[in-house]
Amino acid sequence: MITDRQLKEKWFKFFEEHGFKKIEGFSIIPENDPTVLFTTAGMHPLVPYLLGEKHPAGNKIYDVQRCIRTSDIDSVGDASHLTFFEMLGNWTLGQCDKTTMIKLSYEFLTSPKYLGLDKNKLAVTVFAGNAVAPRDEEAYNAWKSCGIENIFFTSEDNWWALGGGVGPCGPDTEMFYDTGKEKCSENCSPSCDCGKYLEIWNDVFMQYVVEKAGQQAQKLALPNIDTGMGLERTVAIINGAESVYDSGCLKRVIDFINQNATVKYTENESATRSYRIITDHLRSSTFILGDARGVLPSNVGQGYILRRFIRRAVNHSRNIGFDCKLFANIVDIFVDEYGQDYADIKSNRELIKDELLKEVSKFSKALEDGHKEFEKVINGIERHKEFASKNGEKVENIINGKSAFRLYDTFGFPLELTIELAKERGYEVDSEGFNQMFKEHQEKSRQATAGMFKGGLADTSNQSAFLHTATHLLLAGLQKMFGKGVVQKGSNITPERLRFDFNLDHKMTAEELMEVENFVNEAISRAIPVKCEVMSLEQAKKCGAHGTFTNKYGDEVKVYTIGDVSKEICGGPHAENTSQLHHFKIIKEESSSSGIRRIKAILD
Ligand code: SER
Repeated sequence: MITDRQLKEKWFKFFEEHGFKKIEGFSIIPENDPTVLFTTAGMHPLVPYLLGEKHPAGNKIYDVQRCIRTSDIDSVGDASHLTFFEMLGNWTLGQCDKTTMIKLSYEFLTSPKYLGLDKNKLAVTVFAGNAVAPRDEEAYNAWKSCGIENIFFTSEDNWWALGGGVGPCGPDTEMFYDTGKEKCSENCSPSCDCGKYLEIWNDVFMQYVVEKAGQQAQKLALPNIDTGMGLERTVAIINGAESVYDSGCLKRVIDFINQNATVKYTENESATRSYRIITDHLRSSTFILGDARGVLPSNVGQGYILRRFIRRAVNHSRNIGFDCKLFANIVDIFVDEYGQDYADIKSNRELIKDELLKEVSKFSKALEDGHKEFEKVINGIERHKEFASKNGEKVENIINGKSAFRLYDTFGFPLELTIELAKERGYEVDSEGFNQMFKEHQEKSRQATAGMFKGGLADTSNQSAFLHTATHLLLAGLQKMFGKGVVQKGSNITPERLRFDFNLDHKMTAEELMEVENFVNEAISRAIPVKCEVMSLEQAKKCGAHGTFTNKYGDEVKVYTIGDVSKEICGGPHAENTSQLHHFKIIKEESSSSGIRRIKAILD
């Protein structure tokens, strides 16, 4: 048996002994990289060094990096997929000696001092060649000289590139553990995903770079080696475990849920899946909320993914009869485990629990309302049936796409939930109709029209009023980020967009813009009523209302209050509720004049 910590220590010791230097892992939320929402691999934050910049720690480095990958979210629940995992990484910068790296990999995997895996149980894949690069003979020969027999060639699976395709890339060689299961077919190989071969490690030979989207890969002047080993999977393999949930803190969380849920872990396949999804998603949520750059649940960007994790965990808790209040205890298990390595998780323990439970109760409330709405839909159909039967007509037990979409859009009911509830009542759901509505909804958003507003299409003046409210939220967001010293220096609103000038001494980074956007969208998603009060200027100042153009106002002023988010002296008009704004998006940030920045934003 090996623990996560022991594997990390072995990795550190091995690479230290071979002249590599340890570097700290990065935040889970990438800095200055708008192309991805989360850090998905250890190499991600190292891209500048992989493109030739000198690393302060030298040209041989290693680390452990916390990663989030959402591409596999639908596979979570099986034995090996996770949205959060730790990746052990090491890099050789400016050199690409494949033979040496393969020999090191082989030694780490098989030496009794390290992982001690049987070499006959290893299989590897090697790059077969494509239009850019030839078949990787060097890698093949290196594995051969180590005595590895199970060598497979592929061209697609052995070409590594970043998600968007732009950046350093190149051939790789992947290492697999052969579980000893029967071959699934004559052509069974590590590429076929039947479960016979489990991937443990990947050595990427970054000899190329794609400079711009759509361009051909070019040779990198200074090639590198980038390797990554999935910690949880490797521990599971060494321990001969059935799944990644069978050891360490993931197991402790599963056990905790098992003690408190009405349906037990392995009672049926769907329960097993739910247990794993709750465990995985709450770990990801803990790391996102607890990160020094953490975000809160919202309808955009990382906040949206976080919301999705939490809401899925709630839905799956319903499935097994697990009380979501106990999510706080699960956070404790994770913080106790990871706090030692990740100080921000530890110091944000209470914040993580608070925000998690807040989102749970927000969602539970929406679900409760949704359940009532669901009953109304069923009653409506039943009444229709009764009426129709008097006329000798027949009405099918089908919930139409429109109703299912309303449950989704207004009450946050996932389609699967509606289908499940409908089934219990002997009903079916028109999923196709739902999908049609969903597409139409997306199209409407895309066109940035106000189709979703109450009472049909919003008129021009409504649209301007909503943008005006967005301006107040924007200022509140900027002040939260940069302090109360940030004030409005100008504002111009057309029905299409808002333009807002304010004082700031630097160009806002992509990340700052995203945070402000998230802040505004968070306020929108909270559906806060906008309150207007008339009072004396004196009173307005006393209650902390913000107003830059104070001397412009007469004795009586209007104060617009948006919950705890914003309080401003202003002539209006405004939205009645922030939910009318639907979704806020910054489209431009630029200099307006010296020390003054200008943001243009829309509602879509
Ligand atoms: N970047 C490679 C991967 O993600 C190895 O670190 O597999």
